[in-house]
Amino acid sequence: AVDLIMAHFGTSRDPVEKIRLGNSSRSPTIGGIVLEHLCPTIQNILQDGLRDHKLDLIIGHRRNHAWNVVEASTQTAPPAAK
Ligand SMILES: *[C@@H]1O[C@H](CO)[C@@H](O)[C@H](O)[C@H]1NC(C)=O
Repeated sequence: AVDLIMAHFGTSRDPVEKIRLGNSSRSPTIGGIVLEHLCPTIQNILQDGLRDHKLDLIIGHRRNHAWNVVEASTQTAPPAAK
């Protein structure tokens, strides 16, 4: 995925043209690369070694998804008590 993206942006050295190459409205190729190659790759990384289910104290066994990894790793600390 990275090679494809690098090759896409490598087609020009002009900074203005590079901005155009990164805009999926003006260069649909970048949208295709991201959706068909980069997203599945990130999903595979997030799912690697992920257990099928997790034990939820209330619900019981709950199916694990890549998105659970995103949520768990982006949680902020609870607000400090006033
Ligand atoms: C992408 O290109 C479209 C069409 O030219 C334009 O309307 C839009 O503002 C551009 N987006 C960015 C982030 O520059």
